[in-house]
Amino acid sequence: VSDQKPPISIRRVELRDADAVAACMSDPAVARGLLQLPHGSAEFWRKRIADMPAGNSATEIMLVAELDGAVVGNAGFQPAMALRRRHAVNLGIAVMRQAQGRGVGSALMSALMDFADNWAGILRIELNVFTDNDAALALYKKFGFVHEGTSRAFALRDGQYADVHFMARLHPRQPLLR
Ligand SMILES: CC(C)(COP(=O)(O)OP(=O)(O)OC[C@H]1O[C@@H](n2cnc3c(N)ncnc32)[C@H](O)[C@@H]1OP(=O)(O)O)[C@@H](O)C(=O)NCCC(=O)NCCS
Repeated sequence: VSDQKPPISIRRVELRDADAVAACMSDPAVARGLLQLPHGSAEFWRKRIADMPAGNSATEIMLVAELDGAVVGNAGFQPAMALRRRHAVNLGIAVMRQAQGRGVGSALMSALMDFADNWAGILRIELNVFTDNDAALALYKKFGFVHEGTSRAFALRDGQYADVHFMARLHPRQPLLR
């Protein structure tokens, strides 16, 4: 028996990935960790992906992970709106239930951290996470995110108002002007 892990490849999302992204986001086990509503729509993701900047001018990005040739996860940055917050982005990530626990989330995070730290000039990455989402908390801690605060009754989840932690990661070695 080989203990070699199957290769995970990461690339920018394309329109042809919309159905796979929608399937991942509308799995109830995944959606409950996000702010998605039940009955997610592929049409929504087609439009969302089509409207994403594809070129070299934005910190907004969405990446997908392929495992054994199938798209099983996605992650990305949404830029903060105010010009004075152009160093900051919000992070989102989701991996299909069947592919969780196999390093896909870590591979997506590595690629996003490289994009942020070494290419896009992002200095602050922020997110919120339900306080009982142990897998996500472990992933974020592994990539240097720290707890900044807790909001109570932040979002309705399965009939109950649930708390979230706010977490952020500042650039670990910000490039200086010489
Ligand atoms: C959070 C999520 C993206 C993690 O993706 P993943 O592919 O399972 O992550 P990985 O396999 O790379 O594991 C990441 C780390 O978390 C740890 N981990 C996984 N599940 C865990 C759990 N239930 N409790 C504690 N640690 C856990 C792993 O051991 C691993 O750490 P290691 O590399 O030091 O061993 C995935 O669970 C998911 O999509 N959940 C549903 C959507 C969601 O909640 N998104 C986050 C919203 S804030």
